[in-house]
Amino acid sequence: MPPRTPLPPYRRLPLLVTADGDLLDELLRLAAAGGTEVELAADPAAARARWTPAPLVLVGADQAQACLRARLPRRPRTVLVGRSGQLDPGTQVAELIGAEHVATLPAAEPWLVDRFAECAVELPGGPARVVAVLGGRGGAGASVLAGGLAVTAARARLRTLLVDADPLGGGLDLVLGWEQLEGLRWPGLTGTDGRMDPPSLVRALPSRGDLVVLSWDRGALRHLPAEAMAATVDAARRGRDVVVLDLPRHLDDAAVVALQAADRALVVVPAELRATAAAARVVAVAALHCADLAVVVRGPAPGRLRAGEVARALGLPLAGTLRPEPGLCRGLERGEAPAATGKGPLAVLCQRLLDGLADVPTAGAA
Ligand SMILES: Nc1ncnc2c1ncn2[C@@H]1O[C@H](COP(=O)(O)OP(=O)(O)OP(=O)(O)O)[C@@H](O)[C@H]1O
Ligand SMILES: [Mg+2]
Repeated sequence: MPPRTPLPPYRRLPLLVTADGDLLDELLRLAAAGGTEVELAADPAAARARWTPAPLVLVGADQAQACLRARLPRRPRTVLVGRSGQLDPGTQVAELIGAEHVATLPAAEPWLVDRFAECAVELPGGPARVVAVLGGRGGAGASVLAGGLAVTAARARLRTLLVDADPLGGGLDLVLGWEQLEGLRWPGLTGTDGRMDPPSLVRALPSRGDLVVLSWDRGALRHLPAEAMAATVDAARRGRDVVVLDLPRHLDDAAVVALQAADRALVVVPAELRATAAAARVVAVAALHCADLAVVVRGPAPGRLRAGEVARALGLPLAGTLRPEPGLCRGLERGEAPAATGKGPLAVLCQRLLDGLADVPTAGAA
């Protein structure tokens, strides 16, 4: 089923035309500092299709003559760039290829960061939807639902970030079977200065297709500063389509920040009396930080408690129900990501929950 959330249209990115590896590394660093991704072309032939639509073109000194010979059309916002000594001051080549500026590194670094920043695009469809999931009691199925939502969103080609906000959860990468995947986990990320931009965040984390995961690892327990969570969610809101937060039931400062950033929070409650009583406590605290709370009731219901009764007891709307899915448990133990086949009760529920999210006003849009 196609997602109701509109997919972001094709994004136009600055184009770098160079085959000089050192120059390319420097320009990529400056682009990351400006908060934008870029497109790369090693020569004019590779650049031609993207030459005119690109919002900014940087021609490396190594490709200037080749661009001239290739007779690429003149276009605004073209810059000839090279390290000092690489660009011959007497040359006419900049003018001939239609470059408005010649940027000599390292002196022009701040100027180039500003040009890249001008191209840093907000998400065309608006900021990401942020959904938090928390368990009404231990082992309720919150992390599995969070994983299922993220997998389902990515299957619909939505750029998705799944965030593990539970330091005691054992690592959310395990829920996806991603524990061997390279990339940073929280401890590696919080070693930096706390500033993050969406493209570099995405590049640093384990990813497959449109799904990126920020997980805890299995190392010694570390404190997660609330600022790191705030910076992550803020960067993700600007750079992704969907952010899924897997929260602990005991909210630490970082989890409170995450919950406050959520457009909607889902509380997963097993269909049992005691689970409902435990969930009432969780809901009372969560409601202090998020105005849009809803319940997902997970079967089986050994005492035949109905999902509607659970929701009524908690005073919250019922977002959905989950039938028992024994195959899912077996798959999880084998490292298969939840909802990865797109079939079964969890996948169907996740799709419905994501569809419903498209109508929720986002805090980031305000
Ligand atoms: N939809 C489901 N169908 C069948 N079994 C499930 C489902 N969701 C979760 N489980 C089972 O319950 C276990 C606990 O799930 P999960 O880790 O998602 O709970 P949690 O609420 O995140 O727990 P914690 O309190 O540890 O954070 C899973 O390992 C799995 O065996
Ligand atoms: Mg969990």
